[in-house]
Amino acid sequence: MSATGTTEKVANTILDTLIHAGIKPIIKKVAEAADVQLYDFDLVFLGAPSYSFQPPEPVQKFIKAKMKLHMERGDIKPGCPVLPGKTAVVFCTYSGPHTGIAEATPAGDYMGQFFEHLGFSVAAKWYTVGEFKGHEDLSTQGRLGDIRGRPNVKDLAEIESNVSTLLKSIQSR
Ligand SMILES: Cc1cc2nc3c(=O)[nH]c(=O)nc-3n(C[C@H](O)[C@H](O)[C@H](O)COP(=O)(O)O)c2cc1C
Repeated sequence: MSATGTTEKVANTILDTLIHAGIKPIIKKVAEAADVQLYDFDLVFLGAPSYSFQPPEPVQKFIKAKMKLHMERGDIKPGCPVLPGKTAVVFCTYSGPHTGIAEATPAGDYMGQFFEHLGFSVAAKWYTVGEFKGHEDLSTQGRLGDIRGRPNVKDLAEIESNVSTLLKSIQSR
């Protein structure tokens, strides 16, 4: 989910980079993803903004529903063995006005744990700074300084580069 478009911008950058690399990805908002069978895919990205250092409620709801389904199906096994060929990446946007990136890592870890429980290898957790839209004080006086206009071209180029590096590492396996 993306209330002010920042996480969506990162998601679209990931999407465009994958398409450019010749992959045919599908993109869904969590609200529309209840029926997605995660095990049908070899590479899954899940992104969210950090809200009070957690994924927002719709994302947590999605994760909890999937956890319940996969527990019931017996997919989540003691020790969570890693399934060969199943890779996940989580990405999180945040403004960090109080304690910086420490406000985002618990949200990234939460989403990462979800995939590890399913047996996916979590190849990366990407954190991108996003302006706290509608709150000038939190976009200028926080620990990260003036973050208006973020993510900027450089932030999105970093995402592009991360995707390219990830694909190379998957393809060389
Ligand atoms: C209700 C709410 C709570 C937020 N809590 C945090 C937070 O705890 N830490 C943080 O770094 N940013 C926080 N933010 C800022 C957002 O994570 C950040 O601006 C994000 O990039 C917005 O992404 P979006 O446009 O995709 O929703 C919060 C924003 C909102 C609206």
